[in-house]
Order: sequence, then C-alpha cells, then structure tokens
Amino acid sequence: MSILEDVLAHVDANIEQSLDRMATLVRFQSISTDPAYKDECRKAADYLSDELNSIGITTTVRDTTGHPMVVGHDSDEAAKPGPHVLFYGHYDVQPVDPIDLWDADPFDPKIEERNGTKVMVGRGTSDDKGQLLTFVEACRAYKAVAGSLPIAVSILFEGEEESGSPSLLPFLNENKDELSKDLALVCDTGMFNADTPAITTMLRGLLGEEIVITAANRDLHSGMYGGPAANPIKILSKILADLHDETGRVTIPGFYDGVEELSPAIKAQWDALPFDAEGFLGDIGLSVPAGEDGYSTYEMINARPTCEFNGITGGYSGDGFKTVIASKASAKLSCRLVGGQDPHALRKALRAFVRERVPADCQVDFIEHGAAPAHSLSPDFPPLQKGTQALKEEWNKDAILMGMGGSIPIVGEFKDILGMDSMLIGFALDDDNIHSPNEKYNITSYHKGIRSWVRVLSALAES
Ligand code: BES
Ligand code: ZN
Repeated sequence: MSILEDVLAHVDANIEQSLDRMATLVRFQSISTDPAYKDECRKAADYLSDELNSIGITTTVRDTTGHPMVVGHDSDEAAKPGPHVLFYGHYDVQPVDPIDLWDADPFDPKIEERNGTKVMVGRGTSDDKGQLLTFVEACRAYKAVAGSLPIAVSILFEGEEESGSPSLLPFLNENKDELSKDLALVCDTGMFNADTPAITTMLRGLLGEEIVITAANRDLHSGMYGGPAANPIKILSKILADLHDETGRVTIPGFYDGVEELSPAIKAQWDALPFDAEGFLGDIGLSVPAGEDGYSTYEMINARPTCEFNGITGGYSGDGFKTVIASKASAKLSCRLVGGQDPHALRKALRAFVRERVPADCQVDFIEHGAAPAHSLSPDFPPLQKGTQALKEEWNKDAILMGMGGSIPIVGEFKDILGMDSMLIGFALDDDNIHSPNEKYNITSYHKGIRSWVRVLSALAES
C-alpha cells in the first residue's frame, strides 16, 4: 500500500478516538460574545494547544485583548515540497439561546441518528469545532503513519470569529512574519450537498452595527406622557422600515456602489446547478421567497447584498402587559456585502441615514460589531485544481466551486495584511443548524472530512 492509503486506513481504524476528541472539544462552553464564558474560551484554547503539541506541532496560546489565539508550527524542520500552509479555524461558538428549543444539553454532545444519518449533536459540532478537528486529525494520522507531514504546516485558531474578530487585526499586524505563509487553508464552510464536495470561492462580507435610540430620561407611564413624549420604539421601527423599499432593495444612499450584476456565464452556470429553491425554503417551513424582486434564491444568498435585523429590544417584553413608554430602544443589524462594497463607507452611510431620522431632542448611539469586505478567488488559482482533485478522489464526485452566503472576516485580512490567498474547504451541510438549536455535524462529514484533508495535504506536496 502507498503511504497515502496507509494514512487513510489509520484514519478509519482510529475514528472512534477522533470522535471522542471532538466531543471533548465541544464540551467547552466557548461562547465568545458572552463575557461569562471567558474562562471556557481559554480552556478550549489550552486543550487545542495541548493536542497540537502532543502530535509534534509546537503550539502556544497567545493573549490578546479578547480571547486567546492558538498558534502552532510543525516542529519537523526537514525541507518540504509544496506550499507552506497556514490552517485556520475558530474554537468559539455562538450562544445557545433559545435553550428550551434544544432536545438536550448543547455542551454534552451525543452521537445519535437523525433522519437515518449518524450525527453528533451539540453547539459548535459543525461551526467550527468538528470542522477544525478534521484537519488536526488528518495531521495526527499522517504523523502516526508516515512520521511527518508531507508539506510544511502552521496553525492559527481564533476564539472570536463569532463575535466579529475584534482582536484579529492587531494580532495579524503584530505577527505578520510568523503567520505569512504561501497559502491559507480554512475549514469553516460547507459542501454543495451531502455527497457533493465543494470549495467555496466566494463569501459575502459583513457590516455589523447596533443602533441605540434614547428619548426621555426615564421610562414613562404611557397614559401620562403618551402623545407628547417621543417614543424610541416608534422612531426606531420607522427607521428600520425605511431601510428597504417595496421591491426589497436597501435604501441607504450608495449601498449598491461596487455591487455588480452576475456575468451571463456565471448566471448560466448557477441556473444549471441542481439547487432546489423550494426545498431550501421548505426545509425551514417557508414557501414565499422574500428579499429583492427579480433575483433567484440562489443568487440572493451568494451574490446579492442584504441588510438584516438580528435583534430588537425596548420597553416591556416580559409576560403580561405594561403600559410604558421606554426611554431606550435598540436594534442589531448585519449587512452582508458582495463585490467591492466598502464596509467602512457603508457604516458611515448607515449612520447618516439613521441620524437624519432621529428627532432633535432624542439621542442616537452606535456600537460597531465588525466589518469585512466580500471575498472571491479566481477559479484559475492553481491550488484549487489540487484541492478539487483530492476531493473528487475522496467523494467520487466532482467538487463544485461555489459561493456561500456567510462571512469569514479573516479571509479578507489574510489577503490584505498577510498577502495570502485562502482555499476554503468545508464539510458542513445546510441542515447542520449552525447558529440554531440542535446544531449537528454528520459523522460522515467528520470522517470523510479527515480523509479529505489527508488527500489535500498529499496533493499539495506534489509538484
Ligand atoms: N462558519 C460560519 C460562516 C459560514 C456560514 C460560511 C455559512 C459559509 C456558510 C462562520 O462561523 C460565521 O457564522 N461567521 C459569522 C461572522 C460574523 C459573526 C462576523 C457570520 O457569517 O455571521
Ligand atoms: Zn464558523
């Protein structure tokens, strides 16, 4: 047998241990956005660092002003063929609420059958703990069988991806020389469907913003003050409603600067994909596409910008009823960006749009929640060929180059600060419930994901 086949056989023989390690990582409650889980974030980082060190990747946990970074370099210094890669993943997860919609404890992962498929259920199983471990486990198997990795490997795990990566920019700037490699590999995206592998070459960017409107200096009785007293919920909801016109377009001046229509070639290619728009909405209990008039569901997710409202607060929302006029109301917004849309220019434009609509004696404050431009990689980028070939060998099916609607802010920073392109290979599925209750990762995604990285590492070593 070839070394590659031996390594793959080792992956198969040790899949139970690999699954145990995944469960261990999922048990850390590393919710980055909530300060109550700060220690859990550090514990997850420490665990990963220990695991990497144990397989000969010399790793340290580095402090930042937020959650720590995990940085490792393969200690094997022999000269290697192929590119020196930097593998990226994130060990932080989204909050679990609404907790009562989970069938079990989100941080006590269990393997179970769902619709005839074996899955591990738990927060972060798919996004991104299971995914990042596919690469670690591939390295582990390679080292165990061949004694060394076929190419030079460094690792960066972040703990703030789900909360806009605030510490990332300074960290990359301070550690440019150490982290600039030939190519970044990222495992934080999905497949086209359960048996069709994919490399994501387009991701949307993101602008996160919170708007807080303050009117009176205290909460008021709505009978005593209702009428003359400005109501911040009314002001806020009017502003939010104004952000889209009746065709679903965003009304912020300049919002569409840098957005291009799809080329006829890409449009034809996308129209030919076996994407089931009705099923996509049907799976989440919907049937009528919302969003911009004149665009297909697939196009809306992958190539159109959006402005979505992610949370809204103000007044009394507990049980029962209270006749109150709140002093404050707030909303959290995220815009997904495409093409050349500039997140910083858009933040300014959004703030101006809001300010213009706030009455003179009310106050508006803004809280920034991250900014990242969209990402796109030319289909001619040479490593893509090796990646698609390796995936095809594992899945017995051509890998698709595709877009995904989510954002991974670091991909833009890798390019801008470290001058490094990223190849995004992931094994998540649309029905993994990422960011939702009952998140899961298919055991097949994990197992074949590990095997896929073994093949990608091997392919990258070939000239
Ligand atoms: N893994 C996702 C990104 C993703 C989702 C890629 C779906 C492809 C398809 C990532 O962890 C994520 O959720 N990112 C956040 C970033 C934000 C908080 C800055 C996102 O997209 O909302
Ligand atoms: Zn993720």
